[in-house]
Amino acid sequence: MGRLAILGALHEEIADLLAAMEPGATVHRIAMRDFHVGVLWGTPCVIALSRIGKVAAAATASIVIQEFKATRVVFTGLAGGLHADVAVGDVVVASSLMQHDMDARPLFGQYEIPLLGCARFGTDPALSASLRESAEAFVRAHAAAAERGAARPAPKVHCGLIATGDVFVNDNDEAGRLRHRLPQALCVEMEGGAMAQVCHEFGIPYAVLRVVSDRADHTAKADFTDFLVNVARVYTAGILAPLLRSGALSDA
Ligand code: ADE
Repeated sequence: MGRLAILGALHEEIADLLAAMEPGATVHRIAMRDFHVGVLWGTPCVIALSRIGKVAAAATASIVIQEFKATRVVFTGLAGGLHADVAVGDVVVASSLMQHDMDARPLFGQYEIPLLGCARFGTDPALSASLRESAEAFVRAHAAAAERGAARPAPKVHCGLIATGDVFVNDNDEAGRLRHRLPQALCVEMEGGAMAQVCHEFGIPYAVLRVVSDRADHTAKADFTDFLVNVARVYTAGILAPLLRSGALSDA
């Protein structure tokens, strides 16, 4: 059975996954990162903290594919909501990703990855559909709990374009410019589009799961930090656990 790679940019985004690995997992240190190899909820996995940004994500994706023979890659973590329909607490599953800070004009079109001939990377439909279904089930359970007293409105699950760049977007003007340039983009984050490019180049299926922590505006930093500490790990584990237990992310 091939190995599933699960990557996150910050420790809190993968903490509950590492804690849930079956006894006997091994840790391998390569390029200043720890790669945790073992079994998670019945599925052979390699889990790694990529750190933040496109270069970090690309390096980590290359290593899990080349050194650990990952046959599928899932990136999970937080994102800033861009689209008007996307609220804090919602979940976004990427159907495609692009790099909003790639601009080699006039040599190539805006956003086009030079010499690759494309600007958007489509995720694996089966992996993404599994993530979406599990996210919807998680959100339904969460909404039921909310009806019993919690303050947040019922979260939604969205599927669509994610914009990636080496920028933490935390002002209204910058967020507005991105919305104007990329009206289809649901959310913004700092790794998915780079991992997608690497997986595309290796021919490895991939998917991206993001929880919306902020609206990419002037309160983004406080909202992000609150979400990272209190919510991110619960969502990630709550969505991935049933999928891994059911074998839906295995390729055997
Ligand atoms: N990840 C979470 N929130 C973000 C934001 N506002 N900008 C970029 N990446 C993010």
